[in-house]
Amino acid sequence: MDGLPEQIAIAVQRLRAGELVAFPTETVYGLGADALSDAAVKRVFEVKGRPAHNPLIVHVSGEAMARRVAADWPEDARKLAARFWPGPLSIVVPKAQSVPAIVTGSGPNVAVRCPSHPLTLALLEAFGGPLVGPSANVSGFVSPTAAEHVREAFDERDVMVLDGGPCTGGIESTVVSVVGGKARVLRSGLIDAAVIGEVLGREVECADSGVISTTPTAATPAEAPGQMSSHYAPKARAVMIDAGDVESLIGRVTGECVVITHTKAEDAPTPLPPHSGRVGKTHVIRMPVDARGYARRLYAALREADAMHPELIVIVTPPDESKNPVWRAVRDRVKRATAGSAGE
Ligand code: TXA
Ligand code: MG
Repeated sequence: MDGLPEQIAIAVQRLRAGELVAFPTETVYGLGADALSDAAVKRVFEVKGRPAHNPLIVHVSGEAMARRVAADWPEDARKLAARFWPGPLSIVVPKAQSVPAIVTGSGPNVAVRCPSHPLTLALLEAFGGPLVGPSANVSGFVSPTAAEHVREAFDERDVMVLDGGPCTGGIESTVVSVVGGKARVLRSGLIDAAVIGEVLGREVECADSGVISTTPTAATPAEAPGQMSSHYAPKARAVMIDAGDVESLIGRVTGECVVITHTKAEDAPTPLPPHSGRVGKTHVIRMPVDARGYARRLYAALREADAMHPELIVIVTPPDESKNPVWRAVRDRVKRATAGSAGE
């Protein structure tokens, strides 16, 4: 990891000049810009092609910096930050006036998160201020879990990339709102509502159950505007189906087909190869069978599938293990990745 202090110094210079720097986090890579600069944040929206109503998460080096962007830092936020930061939890609180309206989609609240990747913590410290950080992908497409995914999406003249290796978490942070004394999970992630409830000493509502097909309007911006049904989606048509239906489905597809499956070959006998690889017109990507391993691999697998330009990507329905929050979050992402094609 030679030259990292130098890379951070260059990144800080670029951020101070209002430019964009993609940074690694434990979840996915973020597209960083000075959160307090209207012009820099505007650039993020432009480069990503992101709709203006969809607010950005503000990344901070710790609680002290979080308080600078919050008008109010409720006891719930204090407890959650103490327990989960640095880590994959974004906390929505009332925003301070210093935060430009563009960051929050003109809404009154701001999502803040202290990521745990050492490189990005060092960047935040060196920059000395908050950074917006949406996932560093073109809006609506699959989030990046490696530096090369970011490089593929953006011109290096527009976006400098700090390479911190592959992301260990693989799916975006849990977003929890503690505004108005209510605690609500707006986006599922590696930290689930039950654990948050334990820390807060009360039940936490989960607003993301199932796919929310909210279409925000200017008059009624959705509380979680990023939670639209089709998101995180590959370019090819993609569907989610049960393991038992794979064989008949691929039989009906005339072109190439990529099957992403976590089932073991012996558990789901199909004419598919036992390891990742190709048989005829079907390419199989075998996923880890554990939830965390699956989450870490998911977005890279979707990208690999897309790169084969198949007629169809078939994702075998991930397990419905209500006791395992990571499977729940994985299912949420797979549903969204396949929502556009499935007509949901
Ligand atoms: O793990 C992550 O959260 C990554 C890394 C880079 O930190 N970032 C990320 O950002 O996933 P993004 O912009 O792709 O997704 C942020 C989501 C939005 O879609 C929105 O639903 C929610 O967080 N969000 C952001 N600000 C909000 C706010 N003020 N109120 C409610 N939801 C908010
Ligand atoms: Mg995103």
